[in-house]
Amino acid sequence: MRLELPKNVERFGAIRFGDLQKVFELDAGPGNGSMPSATQAIQAIPHRELYAIFKNMAIIIPVRSERLKLIEGVLSGVPHPCLIIVVSNSPILPIDRFSMEQDALNDFCNFVGKSALIVHQKDPNIARAFEKAGYTGILDEQGLVYDGKAEGMLIGTMLARLAGKKYIGFVDADNYFPGAVEEYIREYAAGFIISQSKYSMVRIAWHSKPKIAESKLFFRKWGRTTSNTNQLLNKLIAHYTGYETEIIKTGNAGEHALTADLALNIDYSAGYSIEPYHIVNILEKFGGILESPLPDIMMKSIEIYQIESRNPHLHEAGDQTHIDEMRREAMQVIYHSPICPDSIKREIKTDALKRGFIGTNKIELDRCRNFPALSSIDTEIFLQEIASTPYGRLLADRSVTRQEWRIV
Ligand code: GDP
Ligand code: CO
Repeated sequence: MRLELPKNVERFGAIRFGDLQKVFELDAGPGNGSMPSATQAIQAIPHRELYAIFKNMAIIIPVRSERLKLIEGVLSGVPHPCLIIVVSNSPILPIDRFSMEQDALNDFCNFVGKSALIVHQKDPNIARAFEKAGYTGILDEQGLVYDGKAEGMLIGTMLARLAGKKYIGFVDADNYFPGAVEEYIREYAAGFIISQSKYSMVRIAWHSKPKIAESKLFFRKWGRTTSNTNQLLNKLIAHYTGYETEIIKTGNAGEHALTADLALNIDYSAGYSIEPYHIVNILEKFGGILESPLPDIMMKSIEIYQIESRNPHLHEAGDQTHIDEMRREAMQVIYHSPICPDSIKREIKTDALKRGFIGTNKIELDRCRNFPALSSIDTEIFLQEIASTPYGRLLADRSVTRQEWRIV
C-alpha cells in the first residue's frame, strides 16, 4: 500500500487529528517499502509490516438480519491472519437466522483453514459475564444485552481483548464489495504502522457512495448526515481553538479501527451514536478542557488518522427513518457532552425542532445510553462465565488458538 502522510495535523490537548490521507496504490509492489519516515510525504508500507499487524488484529463484524450472501462476501475480504469475530443480533424465530450464520461461518472456516468466533448478542452467558463483572449498564430488563450496533461492538471488543489482540477493527456485514472490505483493513493496518502512539484510531472516509440517479450511476462523495455530523464536530473543536476548521471528515465512520489500548479506555454510546461519540469522548477525556480521568494516557498522544478509501462504498441502503435516527443520535451525543458550548446547543436544538426530533413543548433532546470504558472489567471473571460456550472454549485454549491463527 502506498499512501500519503496527513498533510495537516491539528493538535487539541493530547489529541492529534490527521487530515484526510489519500491512497496512491493499493499494492506498492513486493520489495518496496520501508518503515515510515516523517520526511517522506508519500509512504510505501511494506507487506511484511501489514501482515505483522493483521496477525495482531481482530476484525469485528456486527450483524443484524443481513443476507447470508453479503456476509459471506465480507468474510472473504478479511485478510487471512486476522481473527474474525462475528457478533449477531439476528432473530432466532420464526427462522433461526443465527444458526444459518453459524453454519456459513463454519463452512468458511473449514474451507480456508482458520478459526473464528461467533456469538449471539442475546446469549445469556455473555449477559451473565457482564453482570458478574459488574458491567450491568449494558443489560436490559430481561437481563440480556440491549439491542444496538454499539452494544454488539462492545461484546466484540471484549472478546478481542480476551483473545489478546492489540488492534481492533470493525467492518459492517452489509458491504456489497469484498474488495472494499479488504481495502479498509489494509488501511487500518497502514494507519497503525504510521502511528507513533499506542493510543490510535483509524477512520475510513469513503471515496464515494454510488447511487442510481436518472438511470445512471452517480458517485456521491458526502452524504447529508455525514456532512451535518462533521460540521458539528468541527464547530465544537473551533469553539475551543478559535480557528474555524474542517479537520473532521469521518464523524459517522462505521469503518474504523482502534488500538486495544485506546478501545478499552474510552466510553461508548448506544446504537449508531457510537461513531461520533468516539470523537466526542476522546475530546472530553484527552482534549484538556476537562480534567482527564486518565492522566497517564494524557501524557502520551492520541492519534486519529482519516484515510480515504479507493473503493466506492456500496451497502444495503437504509430508509429515511434509519438515516434520521443516525443524524438525531449524533446530534444528541454532541448536545449532551459537558464540553458542548451553549451556542452549539442552541443551534442543535433549533435544527432538532425543525426536523421534528423534538416537539415544541420539549426542552431537551433525549440522551443516548452510555457505557463506561471496558478496561474496568475483570477478564478472569468474564472468561469463567463464558467458559462452557464454543467461543469461550476457543478463547481459553490459547495453545489451539495461537496455532490456528498463525499466518500460513
Ligand atoms: P449503516 O450502514 O450505518 O447505515 O447501518 P447498518 O444498518 O448497515 O448497520 C451497520 C452494521 O451493524 C450492519 O452490519 C448491521 O447488520 C449491524 N447491526 C445493526 N444493528 C445491530 C445490532 O443491534 N446488533 C448487531 N450485532 N449488529 C447490528
Ligand atoms: Co449499512
